[in-house]
Amino acid sequence: MIISTFEEYNATYKKSVDKPEDFWSEIASEFYWQKKWDKVLDWNFDEPNIKWFINGKFNITENAIDRHLPEKANKTAFIWEANSIDANHRVITYQNLHDEVCKVANTLKSFGTKKGDRVCIYMPMIPETIFAMLACARIGAIHSVVFAGFSSSALAGRIQDSDCKIVLTTDGACRGAKDIPIKAVVDEALETCPCVEKVLIYKHTNTPITINKAKDIIWQDVVPSALSTCEAELMDSEDVLFILYTSGSTGKPKGVVHTCGGYMVYTCYTFKNVFQINTGTDSKDLFWCTADVGWITGHSYITYGPLLAGASSVIFEGVPTFPDAGRFWKVVDKHKVTHFYTAPTAIRALEACGLDFVTPYKLDSLKVLGSVGEPINEEAWHWYNNNIGKGKCPLVDTWWQTETGGILISALAGVTPTKPSFATLPLPGIQPLLVDDKGNELFGNNVEGNLCIRFPWPSIIRTTYGDHNRCKEAYFSTYKGLYFTGDGCRRDENGFYRITGRVDDVMNVSGHRIGTAEVESAINMHADVVESAVVAYPHDIKGQGIYAYVIVPSTTKNHDNLRKEILAEVTKIIGPIAKPDKIQVVSGLPKTRSGKIMRRILRKVAEGELTSLGDTSTLLDPLVVDEIIKGRL
Ligand code: WT7
Repeated sequence: MIISTFEEYNATYKKSVDKPEDFWSEIASEFYWQKKWDKVLDWNFDEPNIKWFINGKFNITENAIDRHLPEKANKTAFIWEANSIDANHRVITYQNLHDEVCKVANTLKSFGTKKGDRVCIYMPMIPETIFAMLACARIGAIHSVVFAGFSSSALAGRIQDSDCKIVLTTDGACRGAKDIPIKAVVDEALETCPCVEKVLIYKHTNTPITINKAKDIIWQDVVPSALSTCEAELMDSEDVLFILYTSGSTGKPKGVVHTCGGYMVYTCYTFKNVFQINTGTDSKDLFWCTADVGWITGHSYITYGPLLAGASSVIFEGVPTFPDAGRFWKVVDKHKVTHFYTAPTAIRALEACGLDFVTPYKLDSLKVLGSVGEPINEEAWHWYNNNIGKGKCPLVDTWWQTETGGILISALAGVTPTKPSFATLPLPGIQPLLVDDKGNELFGNNVEGNLCIRFPWPSIIRTTYGDHNRCKEAYFSTYKGLYFTGDGCRRDENGFYRITGRVDDVMNVSGHRIGTAEVESAINMHADVVESAVVAYPHDIKGQGIYAYVIVPSTTKNHDNLRKEILAEVTKIIGPIAKPDKIQVVSGLPKTRSGKIMRRILRKVAEGELTSLGDTSTLLDPLVVDEIIKGRL
């Protein structure tokens, strides 16, 4: 189903609320099912227990690949653009994709990998990473992709949590001018992961690696000679497709679980409707999502959504500023990208480099622009719209989350209205509402509150791996009977939604989601740190920066050295993305008499809002606030 006019959007939205099961059943019928579902939906948000397309049997890769072969065998599935501008790009047709996925699938099978086994993928942005994900899906193995910028200890924690049997990786990764030895990170992680039986290593950079004879196998030694056909495992709609770890308000990341049927239906539906891309056999439309496949955006809008829709897209290995800040636009012109989807942090970083990096490029192939990952400020919105879209490309601000699987609130490009810094309207099938802190619904327009969703959609989170209660606590318990997003939101006079940011202890740094508790527990690993508290503050490029307050013994004199060591500790335990931007040494933290840290006060100080600290008289030691203000960085 493709919605083409605003009237159609309104009518479709109404139908999706009045008759949700009919609505979704129609969309799900567009796919290839070996056995159709018996019932569209069963749900309650109390346990929660959510099932879509019950007893439907199929395989997502048959829908993403095989289904297209009769007409699109020679159509481009992916164009891969390397980090280095001197390297050749690669074109992967749907037929190539089929063959490569089957080869990897057969290789995994030869290791004894079976339906339901967990496979960890720790790889850079190369086509083989996508082949690996789809190969897992082909044989019913559950992939857990871990962003290749995470440290060995973060990787180990994720491998252990879901008991992965296999790890797929590369020798090294190129990011800008840097060569990162990925395999060495895996080696270190595996010291504490006895569950891993085999490691398959794709040689990509020729970085020297050490080989563990008992486990390690070089991709190039086995995959090319594997059979290029592999029967797809028959999967139930509610079988797990993948696990993806994301940060919450506790120290330990949660394994968000998505299942096959609902995720397939929802990612394809949203991809087609939000981006309004022409997926015809001869269409020249080319989609480019600049996210890393290690995040949900890459899962849904590099791997699954575009392939399910039969589209062509770009996979980019590099970074926006290498070799210079014109790289994105160079790639757009080179491959004639029509649909471009990126994060506000990238836009702001490129804006700061100046228009000299934009004007050399034509950018005349572009038709649609998208934004994702964090609130896009008006200024960045206009810069993107004027200088990249030349004022002629609809700009969709897409709001969603790892837990939602796909886009929930967004304009449909060229179909529904846009408004700078507003995600605008819910997609048909999505029923948002705002509540106050007590959970009372805020009716009407011009209201601001906590964003919840009252009815399930097909790709809603099913559970958190290994701990269902955590899923219930995190999303379904704050407001009874509702899915709580953790985001604050305003609904304007026209009913348009504007996401204002997280209302919990989760930060959004350069579009990356990081829990304050995670960073605190990494900082606390430093031998001299007695206690720490981490908050976010507004940052011009990153959206939010990380501000850490640390208590150390008075005997620790060299604070510059301490800061360096803390940064190294955080890099070791989580990864460079979680490094604090500012570290302030304090002798105490503002606490209530019951010992709770008053983060509100710490946030205000970090933001520089010193006049609105509120009542501090109930603090255990009100004087610490003065000291913190004096030492503010
Ligand atoms: C959080 C989810 C969605 C995939 C990438 C991030 C924030 C996401 C927007 C947007 C304002 C946004 C929210 C959300 N967020 N998109 N268009 N406008 N905020 O996925 O890591 O699961 O993070 O990112 O705060 O809750 P994620």
